[in-house]
Amino acid sequence: MTKTLVTGGAGFIGSHVVDEMIRNGLEVAVVDNLSSGKKENLPAGAVFYEIDITSPEMERVFETERPDYVHHLAAQISVADSVRNPLHDAMVNVVGSVNLLQNCVRYGVKKFIFSSSGGTVYGATEHLPAVEDLPFSGMSPYGVTKICMEYYLPYYRAEQGLNYTVLRYSNVYGPRQDPHGEAGVVAIFAEAMLNGRTPTINGDGKYVRDYVYAGDVARANFLAIEKGDHDCFNIGTGIQTDVNQLYEAIAGVIGFPHEAVHGPHRPGDLRKNYLDAGKAARLLGWHPEVSLKEGLERTVEFFRNR
Ligand SMILES: NC(=O)c1ccc[n+]([C@@H]2O[C@H](COP(=O)([O-])OP(=O)(O)OC[C@H]3O[C@@H](n4cnc5c(N)ncnc54)[C@H](O)[C@@H]3O)[C@@H](O)[C@H]2O)c1
Repeated sequence: MTKTLVTGGAGFIGSHVVDEMIRNGLEVAVVDNLSSGKKENLPAGAVFYEIDITSPEMERVFETERPDYVHHLAAQISVADSVRNPLHDAMVNVVGSVNLLQNCVRYGVKKFIFSSSGGTVYGATEHLPAVEDLPFSGMSPYGVTKICMEYYLPYYRAEQGLNYTVLRYSNVYGPRQDPHGEAGVVAIFAEAMLNGRTPTINGDGKYVRDYVYAGDVARANFLAIEKGDHDCFNIGTGIQTDVNQLYEAIAGVIGFPHEAVHGPHRPGDLRKNYLDAGKAARLLGWHPEVSLKEGLERTVEFFRNR
């Protein structure tokens, strides 16, 4: 049976990737240190290792599991924390990732599928929707670690024969997203409204993003097992939604009657970012299938039942 290792599989997107692999009949092992992930996100069918990706213990996981494919999602994901503590950020996102790559080579992994970030890699580009060959213009240590790993991958392919695919996600939302972080505006708004609190919109709310449903993202990870060798793909909808529109849409699903409160502008927030995922359509056969309305309904349902 084909086996996949999902790092960060107890986290938000990683747990959807785990579900998608199991749904497609693959065996799954998960590595996660539970720094933000939760055990209850994991389905019963996955073997779980509570290990840090920077640890030498990772070798034991590869030796025991002998995965065919690795989906690498474990990461320090906070942009603000990466600015406050770039050393820790680099330790997890660079050193931890290289630790995995070394083990992939040692244990003959067929492919390494890396979760990168469209928003942070393209930064404040004016060439929108962003396409994959735009130059890197990220402005945070977190963004630097993502592009840094994208540079390691062609080296590992050329010199060590490790196949890979890079997936640059846009803004991912869906069930199991953490509503207590700085990102994840859908989760933050949905939880606040369901608890009768009026969420605050930063600044004028005219910050445009490309919201893609977590289940659609997980399907891109599945398709990348067979396709898109040593290549990089945007995974987004190309649809522009600003925070004010998002507020209205979530309030509509919940039946929340109150107008938004506007707070101060958050320094460093990009005005506009959305992705052209035409290459993923052509070469991976990937298309987003869940509309924003349907995705918001599923997400609200999750938070309502929690
Ligand atoms: N959420 C988004 O919109 C988005 C957009 C672009 C890219 N990404 C990328 O997708 C991936 C998953 O992000 P997410 O939103 O699901 O975040 P998340 O925090 O829910 O998931 C990350 C998981 O990694 C685990 N982890 C963190 N450090 C670890 C370590 N040192 N060792 C082992 N496990 C560790 C956490 O416990 C967590 O379960 C990340 O690589 C992130 O950079 C996310």
